[in-house]
Amino acid sequence: MFKWANLFNFKKQDFEKTIVSPNERNSCVVFLKNGQVFYRVFRDNKIIIDQSELGFKLCGENPLGVNLKLIRSTMKRHEETIELPWGEDRFIKNNYNEMAFYLTEPKDDKRIFTLRFRVFDDAVAFRYEIPPQPKFQRLSVAEELTEFNINLNSTTWKIPAYQPDRYEYNYEKCSVFDLKRPAHTPLTIKTPRGCYLSLHEAALYNYGSMTIKLNAKNKLSTDITPLSDGTKAHLNLPFETPWRLVMIADSAIELTTNRVMYCLNDPPRQDFSWVKTLKFIGIWWAMYVGEWTWAPGERHGATTVHAKEYINAAVRLGIAGLLIEGWNDGWEGDWLENGINNSFTKSTPDFNLEEVASFARSCNIELVGHHETVGFIDNYEKQLETAYNYYAANGIHYIKTGYAGSQILINGRREYHHSQLGVMHYQKTVELAAKKHICLDIHEPIKGTGIERTWPNLLSREGARGQEYEGGAITPSHTCFLPYTRLLAGGMDYTNGIFDIKNSVKHINTTLTRQIAYFVTIYSGMAMAADRPYIYEERHMDVFQFIRDVPTNFERTIPLAGEIGEYYVVARKARDSGEWYVGGVTDETPRRFNLNLDFLDNGVYLAEIYTDSDDAHYRDNPFGHVISKKHVGRNEALDIYMAPGGGFAIRLVPSQSNGA
Ligand code: NOJ
Repeated sequence: MFKWANLFNFKKQDFEKTIVSPNERNSCVVFLKNGQVFYRVFRDNKIIIDQSELGFKLCGENPLGVNLKLIRSTMKRHEETIELPWGEDRFIKNNYNEMAFYLTEPKDDKRIFTLRFRVFDDAVAFRYEIPPQPKFQRLSVAEELTEFNINLNSTTWKIPAYQPDRYEYNYEKCSVFDLKRPAHTPLTIKTPRGCYLSLHEAALYNYGSMTIKLNAKNKLSTDITPLSDGTKAHLNLPFETPWRLVMIADSAIELTTNRVMYCLNDPPRQDFSWVKTLKFIGIWWAMYVGEWTWAPGERHGATTVHAKEYINAAVRLGIAGLLIEGWNDGWEGDWLENGINNSFTKSTPDFNLEEVASFARSCNIELVGHHETVGFIDNYEKQLETAYNYYAANGIHYIKTGYAGSQILINGRREYHHSQLGVMHYQKTVELAAKKHICLDIHEPIKGTGIERTWPNLLSREGARGQEYEGGAITPSHTCFLPYTRLLAGGMDYTNGIFDIKNSVKHINTTLTRQIAYFVTIYSGMAMAADRPYIYEERHMDVFQFIRDVPTNFERTIPLAGEIGEYYVVARKARDSGEWYVGGVTDETPRRFNLNLDFLDNGVYLAEIYTDSDDAHYRDNPFGHVISKKHVGRNEALDIYMAPGGGFAIRLVPSQSNGA
């Protein structure tokens, strides 16, 4: 009798619904089994994510996700083309089929929540939505139980989570079994059947960042970055979690242009027509190579005199912006320790911000201000409004922020940069900056989850090992990993364009040509030409010409060829000029190939081609390069060579007769 009753209950409450992508290649099955909700994902009718659990363990309450019953489900088809004000692609298709499952606990707590699933041609995404309820107004998450039950024989490319250098690690290829320790997302995976996936999240607000690890059941699952009290998030209801996103592609190269993350973010809620992407040089690399210092003293970099010289250099070089680091009070002594007292309004005695800003304005150069918080959030937040007002009053529309240090100090406690409190702090800076018409380039940031669709003033981030690690800690394959991993989370300020390759303090593991290729292969809404102006002017103005020409805003991006960690070739069309730019990078393996130009529009183009010379090598002959010009059309191909640790860059200018 008891058994029958159970069976009856099970049948009554059970459901299984399938959501299919617009092109019918992907499907997601959501089902309730004994009151517990699960999902599976299929590609071409083959399982890519097997039965996976959903739900939460909560602090001081029953878990959410068991003993459930479906109240109702709704279906929706969505077709839209969204336009982004800047980026790698201007138009993005936001086409999906959606089902929302309204679930309740028929007994006990009687709480309700919604699971919303969207199935795209190149992704599956879902999130939890919890409305406020009479006896359920706030909650603390002990654990999010979301699983991604992927075949354990899959390969993955990962960087470790919860480490002192945040996201700044070399990517490692390993098996999914090695994810016993959590890894950051985007987490790129190749299944045994050759399907490429990336697990990531979109619209991360007010919640701990998602990392991924193998759980006790040997399934990949979320591991939300904890707060120092051990919980994952304290929430007032209503609350929507970030979207859990599974990008899906047939090849590694196809994965690189997955833009679903932006579709899952809201359009801007205010006018951002004032936001402009920017190329800039900086009082910066001179500190890394020991010529200048951040701190005041004989070799202080950020003096009024140097700043004016650099502004003049920016004008000569045709670069619109200048970053000035080390201008403020707080760099003396051990700046990592002393940063707790950094001032964001008080200049060093040899730097006059008003004078420099006024000179920059007279030369039409945008200053990029600098706030190194060293992770002392309490100190920074106290000054935030005044500091942004100070820059705004001086006509400064760009700020690079930094959060060096292994953890942040917030409310007097050490927290992870990627915890709920960290996420909330970064968001506060973005929103305040938007109010003041300031654009941000965040170093040591929270990873990108597409929020720049809503907040386009967030022009760039670091959030991976950048060029400052050169001099031993960057291998030639590092930037061949990034397009398939970190860059799936949006643009990156890699600080490209170091031409002083053989510098004895910071020897660079690339050829010269590869340094300009980065301006195409690593997109950034704020792109730094990072070396000192005199290096460009005295040594390689012929190659610098490419940096001058390459735009920071593209109409369209077409990935052409590549394999994870080996090589990457991409073509991008500029927004306004009709010009195309192509860039490529390779690991230690030299590569010669025919570059098919069929991505071009009709007509004749003048190709300005920058390649490694046949005898170039990142170790022995990094400067060997060839610059050539040729008229070409879309039916032609170019013979391209990339030396070990090398790359290439091409500008294709339409002939006037193209009418482009
Ligand atoms: C680390 C940042 O990545 C770098 O760009 C900056 O110069 C230093 N912090 C100092 O703020």
